[in-house]
Amino acid sequence: MADLQLQLDPSLGRRVALETALRDAIRSGRLQTDAPLPSSRMLAADLGVSRSTVVAAYGQLTAEGFLVALHGSATRVASIHVPEVAASQPHPFWHTPLYDFRPGEPATDAFPRRAWLGSVRRVLTEAPDEVFGYADPRGRVELRTSLAGHLGRTRGVMAHPDAVTVVSGFASALGFLADVFVRRSGRVAIEDPMLFLHRQILELAGLEVVPVPVDDAGIVVDALDGLDVDAVLVTPAHQHPLGTTLSADRRNRLVAWARSTDTWIIEDDYDGEFRYDRKPIGALQGLAPDRVVYAGTASKAISPGLRLGWLIVPDGLRRDLRRSIHIKAGASTIDQLALADFIESGALDRHLRTMRSTYRDRRAVVVDRLSDEVAWLEVIDHPAGLHITARILDPAIDEQALVANAAGCDVGIIGLAVCHADEAHPTHRGILIGFARPPQHRFAAAVDALIKVLVDNGPRGSREQIRT
Ligand SMILES: Cc1ncc(COP(=O)(O)O)c(C=O)c1O
Repeated sequence: MADLQLQLDPSLGRRVALETALRDAIRSGRLQTDAPLPSSRMLAADLGVSRSTVVAAYGQLTAEGFLVALHGSATRVASIHVPEVAASQPHPFWHTPLYDFRPGEPATDAFPRRAWLGSVRRVLTEAPDEVFGYADPRGRVELRTSLAGHLGRTRGVMAHPDAVTVVSGFASALGFLADVFVRRSGRVAIEDPMLFLHRQILELAGLEVVPVPVDDAGIVVDALDGLDVDAVLVTPAHQHPLGTTLSADRRNRLVAWARSTDTWIIEDDYDGEFRYDRKPIGALQGLAPDRVVYAGTASKAISPGLRLGWLIVPDGLRRDLRRSIHIKAGASTIDQLALADFIESGALDRHLRTMRSTYRDRRAVVVDRLSDEVAWLEVIDHPAGLHITARILDPAIDEQALVANAAGCDVGIIGLAVCHADEAHPTHRGILIGFARPPQHRFAAAVDALIKVLVDNGPRGSREQIRT
């Protein structure tokens, strides 16, 4: 076999270029199983390289299994099976509409780049070398200490740094908790509706989820009576997705239920920092630190790109969680130390103050436009968090078709049906509008596009006419 067409990449050394060209020719099927290769002398002459280069390349590919060298005969192509790589399609969720109001993301154009850079710079300048090694899976003590102080001050959370575990966002925290409960009764109660992703995380871990209704005062605690569950997952500060705040009466009754049934409350405090009409309401954990597993995240307050969150675990559960944490936990030490610095330097408080004011203004713009121009929607008026929930008043409007039509106009919104345990029979009808997500320079155009799509997809007329 004298004639072998090979293109050697001039940016690589000759031997590496020859190996790469031969590997590619075999993988692509251009050189087929059993095909004999030219002698090293012949190929060296053809390519204008030294014979030792060819001998070395053949030797390397023989060692890797691409070639077979039999004594006394030509080197041949080995039989290899190259599986086809199926093109991977991103989940439809990752398609970003131009006017993106899907809830869940903060204003990424407002990431505090300069302050964060300052924190990272200080960490890299001052940190001892051991920081770049493996670390305590519970998280760096500097961050656990900062978080205990910060959450005590801003969320009324009662925590010792030893009770804090740093995780990669709430999603990972829930996975660790699921590991524990799956070894007990295997049943966890959830609010219905709730974030579908969290239901999926619990189910993926093998848990049975038991939906519990939510009304204007938050989770219906009476509906928990008689349920044989290990824990209940709640969003007391700002129910996801309805937006309600768990009432004081329900808080007390939920804690009493958990104590009397020896059940754990998992508090997902994902956006508790954002309240616009008054000071944020303290975390439920402050009322019952012995019964509530508190979970917070940097995803709304700063950025989901950091993948940082924290769990504060009561003594009674910490031993059981330890195994999972020690095997699976761990977040970037550099980012953990940067967050500790960010908190201690006051940058987090400043950022939250700025963002509260930005979000208050953005929310007001959307709520005013909806009230003035879309009579068939009714905003559930809880001035908190990063999304607005609006009920569909007109029974003739198909929520799913509305969301699909909006997507067709490059406007991203989400319907309430997908948040229900039984999507086909939702108890609440409406849409979620994440007002934090569109970038500032496109915000006005995005609101115009949103209002237009809503007006075009519903009836004209006053609220009273539509209700009747
Ligand atoms: C209800 C709820 N909890 C928690 C989170 C945060 O999850 P993570 O910390 O994994 O980013 C979100 C994000 O959208 C959320 O909607």
